[in-house]
Amino acid sequence: MIRFQLITLLMFMLLLVFMQCDTNPYKQGLALYEQNCQNCHQEDGKAVRGLIPPLAGSDYLLNSGQVACIIRHGLEGDILVNGKRYNHKMPENKKLTATQITNIINYINHAWGNDLPYIPYNIIDEALKECE
Ligand code: HEC
Repeated sequence: MIRFQLITLLMFMLLLVFMQCDTNPYKQGLALYEQNCQNCHQEDGKAVRGLIPPLAGSDYLLNSGQVACIIRHGLEGDILVNGKRYNHKMPENKKLTATQITNIINYINHAWGNDLPYIPYNIIDEALKECE
């Protein structure tokens, strides 16, 4: 009987450990996304059809250096995202640091079913220096 209780206790503790692991590792990225991007690209990353391009499943995300530069300097003019044409203006984000941009990119890379690699800070920092 004691043994059974011990096993139950052990299982419970393991469950607690697993629950801890489940907390979102991209918390800062998520908060920054909500503050700076969500108005346009929306909570589900699908954006606004025909007006603002999606981040969920976007082919642009494959080039994270380019994404870093888009975040910092904004974007305008004709672009093609997943075969669809967009032409509106995205504002710059001059106040976001390289660390914050890295966190946003890693949040996006793992949100809404996106399954892209984790991008380390130094890659983003280098890319940002190139597009200054
Ligand atoms: C005021 C609206 C607005 C805000 C805020 C905004 N964007 Fe954009 N974003 C756009 C538009 C519009 C485009 C397409 C620009 C064009 O047509 O040339 C775009 C393009 C992009 C692209 C490239 C295309 C794609 O869909 O993959 C990325 C990546 C992106 N935005 C990420 C972000 C991130 C990250 C933030 C927050 C830091 C952000 N945007 C904030 C409107 C916005």
